[in-house]
This record gives sequence, C-alpha cells and structure tokens, in this order.
Amino acid sequence: MLQKKILYWYKNNGRKDLPWKTTDIYKVWISEIMLQQTQVKTVIPFYNKFIGKFPNLEKLSNASLDDILKLWSGLGFYKRAENIYKSSQYIKKNHNNKFPVKYEDLINLPGIGRTTASAILTFSKNGKFPILDGNVKRFLSRLYYIDSKLPVRDIENKLWKLSENLLPNKKTPEFIQSLMDIGSLICKKSEPLCLKCPVSHDCFSYKKNNIKKINFKKKVFLKKENIWTVLIIDNQERIFLTKLSYKNLWKGLYSSPIFPDKHHMSKWINQHNLQNYLSSTIWKFSHKLSHINFLFNVHICKIISDKKVSLMGDNWYNLSNIKFGTPKYQDRIITEYINNYD
Ligand code: ADE
Repeated sequence: MLQKKILYWYKNNGRKDLPWKTTDIYKVWISEIMLQQTQVKTVIPFYNKFIGKFPNLEKLSNASLDDILKLWSGLGFYKRAENIYKSSQYIKKNHNNKFPVKYEDLINLPGIGRTTASAILTFSKNGKFPILDGNVKRFLSRLYYIDSKLPVRDIENKLWKLSENLLPNKKTPEFIQSLMDIGSLICKKSEPLCLKCPVSHDCFSYKKNNIKKINFKKKVFLKKENIWTVLIIDNQERIFLTKLSYKNLWKGLYSSPIFPDKHHMSKWINQHNLQNYLSSTIWKFSHKLSHINFLFNVHICKIISDKKVSLMGDNWYNLSNIKFGTPKYQDRIITEYINNYD
C-alpha cells in the first residue's frame, strides 16, 4: 500500500530531528510561516533565534513589528513577519492570547492558507488534514501523471482530492512530513532521484519513463532592476538609515536611502549638501531575489565634519550595533564598507 511505503520511507529517511518537531502549536505556527518559500536549512537558525527570544505567544504579543523584523532580518519575504505581528495582536484581542486550534479560525489569520493551516493543526495534533505545498504538488502530479495542460484550477482540485484520499488516519503527522520530505529531497524539480523513491513502482510517470515531462520547473526570467543607494557614515562611525516604505519587499526594514535612478539620488544628495563627501567611484553588486535581479549602485559618503549636512538626527545608528531589522543587501554594503573603505 502506498501509505505504508511512504511511512516506512519516513521511518528510515525522513527528517525527524528538526527543531520544530513539537506539538506546541505556537512553535509549529512560527516554523510553518518561516518554511513558506524558504528551505529547511535556511530556516533552522532563524527559527531557533526567534523561539529563543519569543518562546510563547504571550512574549510575542508584547513585541513590536520592529522587534519581529529584527529577527526576520535576512530571511526574506518580510510580509510574513508582518503577518505574524498582526496575527499575534489579533489573537491577543480575540482569542484571549491562546493560539486557536480550529481550522476556521486559523485560516482567517493573515498568512495562513489551506496547506499552512493543515500542517499546523496536524503537526500539533489538533486534527488530521491533507496538505498540498509546491513540493507535494510536484510529487502527486508525477505519481498520478496529471496532465499539466489542464487549466490550473482543475489541476489544483484534482491534486487536493488525491492528497485527501491518500491521507491515512494513523500516523498522519509523520505522513504529511514524509510527503514534504519526499517532495523536496527525492522528487526534485530537476534530476529527481527515482531510484531512491519508495513509490517509484506505483508512479505513472516513472512507468511511462516520462518523469521529466511532469516538471513544474518554470523557466523564470529574472527581471533586472537598478537601485541607487548612498551609504552615509559620520565621523563617529554612525550610519544614517531610513525606514523603508519604497518597496513592499522590504517594508518596515531600515536601510541606507535607496532610489530608483541616479537622478533621484543626485537630487537628494544635493538637497542634503552631501556632494563634498561622496566617494569618487560607485560600487556595484547584484542581489538576486526569487523574481528580480537587483543591481545595486552604491555611493559611499563619509562625513568628516557635519557643519553643513542636514539629515534628521534620529536616524543615526551605531554601525556595530544596529537595533533594527535590515535587508540582506544592507548587511552586504556594511561589510564591504568595513572591509574596504573604513
Ligand atoms: N515546508 C513547509 N513545512 C515544512 C515542514 N514541516 N518540513 C519541511 N518542509 C516544510
């Protein structure tokens, strides 16, 4: 039986030592939000740090969005941090600061869709629900040779039905974890490891020798975009940062001022009388996100005397101790400055 093979594979090969293997629904929630769009090995240190600082909902509900963003710094998809913040405030107000355990309540929280709700409830032993994340979609599509030319809606409906029908009544948490693990470790997008797959003999794509055809690997053409930025440091090694609202990508994080083009940057530099402090060269580097390749153009601006400079006073932070969340690119800029310009 398919379920038996999948569970047997999990017993011998599944990831059982993950730090979020607990029935504490709060911890499972944090892990499942972090695991959306992010790989296990990346999530582990962020998860441990987050739970170290906010071990329970009560602690989290006293945190500000800035506190949460600080811990999310570098993990990406920062909307998730905002969703966690909003959820914690909502739960405090409407659920007496107890994490809800009903599907209808979970699905109403920001950032929780069908798969995340199912995973949280199943792993925390508050029910048994099927899942369908990207990896499981690919695995089931191959297993049942789902025609990828069908309308997306039809494919989704079919796959949800299959996932529901497969779900065993016993060892459900282990089973859904196994589906996730087989999907990401064995039934990989390219070069799937069919010889290691516990259900290759049940797999219609494998039998048809057509595994490659059922491939969800979309060719992603990364959009290219320029960003201009000025790294401003004063004579006390303090850095000037602004709270971002420019890009939804990094909303709420703190960064050197960024601009969509050179013209806007130059105008801003002139407005603040920074012309005399600029480096003669512009340092460039590329920073890839899942859908955009940003080319950063960095002007270094080291202020020697601050007589004529007009920048708001409360946006200066100690370079070695920035208390707010910063995007990954900002850390790269600071490291480059310390290594090569300081
Ligand atoms: N992706 C989403 N949830 C996951 C989990 N619990 N383990 C591994 N990958 C996941």
